[in-house]
Amino acid sequence: MALTHQAHQAIRTHFQNRPLDYAVDATCGNGHDTVFLASLARKQVWGFDVQSGAIEATRTKLTAANIQHVNLIHAGHETMQQHIDQPIDCIMFNLGYLPRSDKTITTEADSSLLALNQSTKMLNPGGLISLLCYPGHDAGAVETHAVQSWLSTLDLQQWCCQQLTAREPKPTSPILYLLYKNDV
Ligand SMILES: C[S@@+](CC[C@H](N)C(=O)[O-])C[C@H]1O[C@@H](n2cnc3c(N)ncnc32)[C@H](O)[C@@H]1O
Repeated sequence: MALTHQAHQAIRTHFQNRPLDYAVDATCGNGHDTVFLASLARKQVWGFDVQSGAIEATRTKLTAANIQHVNLIHAGHETMQQHIDQPIDCIMFNLGYLPRSDKTITTEADSSLLALNQSTKMLNPGGLISLLCYPGHDAGAVETHAVQSWLSTLDLQQWCCQQLTAREPKPTSPILYLLYKNDV
């Protein structure tokens, strides 16, 4: 199963027996993850992307699905805390660039780490961050290394981390990190 689907599966399973009210899609792209989160989150979803085309593609999908409780924000996810004044239950990061689009518009290590630091603070206890990294392109390799050293600083009293990748991974294989914030 693709890691994008495994991320959805992990979120679905985690929130089977606990409320998912507020969610963030940190990288809307074509809107698949935003629509997925909106199908589970009962109250509000926020979606971020730096590309207006991604915001519009996501808006089109939401309209087609008659979903109204999503606030799309045409800005980098590193501004998350400026836009959201609400503890969040689930945050998805599908890093990298949009497939079949401009590959130079990609997430970058510095801004991703800013957004991840904000996410760890905004996430409710019992919440989940899914983080899909793509080391198979230059910026993605730098970003994945930065993410890995950031992950090594997480307080394991507070976080439980799971890593999923290909069965026989290469250094270029995508990696899915699932970061579960422990209940207090
Ligand atoms: C792999 S795609 C996301 C796929 C998407 N989640 C979906 O379901 O189709 C990565 C997206 O990150 C966006 N991006 C790049 N830098 C960003 C930033 N600083 N903040 C938010 N989005 C960013 C890109 O424009 C691109 O649309």
